[in-house]
Amino acid sequence: MAKVTISDLFKIKSKGEKFACLTAYDATFSHLISQCGIEVILVGDSLGNVIQGHKTTLQVTVESMAYHTACVTKVEPQSLVITDLPFMSYPHSDEAIKTAATMMRSGAEMVKVEGGQWLSSIIFDLVERGIPVCGHLGLTPQSFHMLGGYKVQGRNEAEAATILSDALSIQEAGASLLVLECVPETLASEISAKLKIPVIGIGAGPNTDGQVLVLHDMLGLTTNSPSFSKDFLRDTDSVTTAIKTFLNSVKNREFPEEDNWYS
Ligand code: KIV
Repeated sequence: MAKVTISDLFKIKSKGEKFACLTAYDATFSHLISQCGIEVILVGDSLGNVIQGHKTTLQVTVESMAYHTACVTKVEPQSLVITDLPFMSYPHSDEAIKTAATMMRSGAEMVKVEGGQWLSSIIFDLVERGIPVCGHLGLTPQSFHMLGGYKVQGRNEAEAATILSDALSIQEAGASLLVLECVPETLASEISAKLKIPVIGIGAGPNTDGQVLVLHDMLGLTTNSPSFSKDFLRDTDSVTTAIKTFLNSVKNREFPEEDNWYS
């Protein structure tokens, strides 16, 4: 596989095909995921949960994200590498630019930020300075306490309308990608169809352009893995096969299945 760029993801969307994304936090998995042909690696702040053992992502620092980004990118994966900006590291443009610069110097090729309309000017300022941005809407784990836990978002008409208008604002501000987490599949379908930028879903149904899972969940290593995930290692004894099966299942539209989404 040649190095994946954002233009490749736009091409996949325009052909109506699908792409896959997995989280990674270290060099070994980064290399393996890339070798398996997964198009996107997310250095997610889910590392707060699966690596550091916290209940939420709120404790994750800029230093931790930069450290894990450097580990992931050291092996020069072919996959496009996106890094999360952690909680409260992008409250306004000046700080967002500094944090994003730290991640880009550590090897990130795009940064991801959680939130809606309020982020538009920050996204605009990052993009103006040459930093590609991925938005994140729906269940935004950094707002855990505000949302009252890990709950499906956008189930009523007003919430759904806000998520759709936030998605349009984020695209308008210059974001290159959008992650939609834990929203009804009908809403995710509508947003994916309306946006020109590729949409990556997690617990968002089958009609987003890409699918992302947390690595430790899809390898069945977590005890509390969400119902939208799937243990791809269960039916094989090889991590490599599990990752390739995930990729093929996304491309062939066999994952997600109805059990893995919300109506
Ligand atoms: O931090 C993360 O791993 C994420 C994914 C769940 C999308 O943001």
